[in-house]
Amino acid sequence: MMEFYKNLSAADWASLLPFGIACAAVGFGAKTLIDKKIGGPVNLSIRKGESKVVHSMDIEDLGDKAVFCRCWRSAKFPYCDGSHTAHNAAFGDNVGPLIIKKKE
Ligand code: FES
Repeated sequence: MMEFYKNLSAADWASLLPFGIACAAVGFGAKTLIDKKIGGPVNLSIRKGESKVVHSMDIEDLGDKAVFCRCWRSAKFPYCDGSHTAHNAAFGDNVGPLIIKKKE
């Protein structure tokens, strides 16, 4: 029953080719859409050779104010360099930094 394909001729396979290409295109399009909407890496360039990017700091060393990147586009990561503005404009996103400061 499942071995019907053994009896297909070259012409039969050729006639199935457009269907196969259409299925591959739909699959690729769906994957691309999913990657853009709900998947794909957040970190595009920072220390990609490592299994996990971790920063550790002492609170006492932060000074009066520290601004940390949450968009993963900063060239000064983990600090914000304002790159989130271009990212938000390009992708319709709304990410911004984490600002930690002493109470005044
Ligand atoms: S550059 Fe990433 S939050 Fe500002």
